[in-house]
Amino acid sequence: MQHLLLINIKELAGVETGESRIKRLAGSDMKNLPSIRNAWLYMENGRIHSFGSMDEEHYIQCNDIIDLKGKKTVLPAFVDSHTHLVFAGSREGEFVDRINGLSYEEIARRGGGILNSAAKLNTTSEDELYHAAHERLHRVMAQGTGAIEIKSGYGLSVEGELKMLRVIRRLKENAPIPIKASFLGAHAYPVDYKQNKEGYLNLIINNMLPQIADEGLADYIDVFCEEGFFSVDDTSRLLDAGAKYGLKPKIHANQLHYSGGVQVGVKHNAVSVDHLECVGDAEIASLQGSNTMPTLLPGAAFFLGIQYQPARKIIDAGLPVCLATDYNPGSCPSGNMPLLLTIACTQLKMTPEEAINAVTINGAAALELEQEAGTIAVGKRANLIVTKEIPSIQYIPYDYGNNPVDKLIINGVVA
Ligand code: NIG
Ligand code: FE
Repeated sequence: MQHLLLINIKELAGVETGESRIKRLAGSDMKNLPSIRNAWLYMENGRIHSFGSMDEEHYIQCNDIIDLKGKKTVLPAFVDSHTHLVFAGSREGEFVDRINGLSYEEIARRGGGILNSAAKLNTTSEDELYHAAHERLHRVMAQGTGAIEIKSGYGLSVEGELKMLRVIRRLKENAPIPIKASFLGAHAYPVDYKQNKEGYLNLIINNMLPQIADEGLADYIDVFCEEGFFSVDDTSRLLDAGAKYGLKPKIHANQLHYSGGVQVGVKHNAVSVDHLECVGDAEIASLQGSNTMPTLLPGAAFFLGIQYQPARKIIDAGLPVCLATDYNPGSCPSGNMPLLLTIACTQLKMTPEEAINAVTINGAAALELEQEAGTIAVGKRANLIVTKEIPSIQYIPYDYGNNPVDKLIINGVVA
């Protein structure tokens, strides 16, 4: 039997007691991050077995003990529910083009952007892609990521999309953390289909989806629903096609325009609608009463220098907010969750507690992992962050650009 006991934890944050489990936190509930000061936590066979206060409850004795000496805090590992972590090469040339005045959309119209990454990916071997992605995965784990979603979408051909999804499957098999795969064949129209959009939609529906389903390569279907990319009608058709194979939607919506993306996502019962720079009353109304998670990606808005997501408006309307990095070579070449927390606090005016809930329990909900991850609760997977010596939870986003993580515990073992 494998076990580990943490004692003298300065603060055990994000705890959930009682029998019933929280699915997600919304509205004013997001500001509460329940914690136990001076705590202990016992893990057995990869799961959280029990926890409590050093003063009150007695803990199970075991030989594997880490004494945090009242200096280090423990919280649930971060869940990054939206990334494009598998990619080839980098795009710093476009970064400079944007500094010199070109917009993300202009770069895309000139054949750069996603098509630039697709050209690189299609000439890179599966092995090379795997090793680069594996290294990125371990780098973000060192920054506290304990569960992650990864998309395809830089293949834009049958072979390219399958290659990416097979890389993600290999990561799932070899990495210790939960990984979910999203099929994003509808990320951009590839060069060969610029004049034949119908042909590309048919390729996705008739060729890609059946093979992906056959090999069980995807958990979700994604579409970049945006002016200049895939329309609301295209999105609707693709989501219907994905549903035939049991793929639930998690879509890119309302990044650059009020595109109707949020509404079409909600209509198809999307697990999440992601980006959301452009959110008005109609988008909020459509999210209300739905199970769809609004997921904000402020790292991309930061890096592209575009408007931020109206997090306060969404939370104040009683809705949940999830935050994710969007780690990709174009709009956000960083999977750094602590930095994302800082951006959420300073630019979106989320409190540190709201931001942490957005990347723990709400991140878990955006990947349908709320029974497994996102809070410190008995029976959940023991994926935890042990922080460096920090004065408070608020210090994590405050201490910006620095890594608060001392140790990541995955499945009850120090990773
Ligand atoms: O989420 N917006 C669409 N897709 C990615 C960016 C992809 C890229 O530029 O390579 C995003 O921002
Ligand atoms: Fe994205």
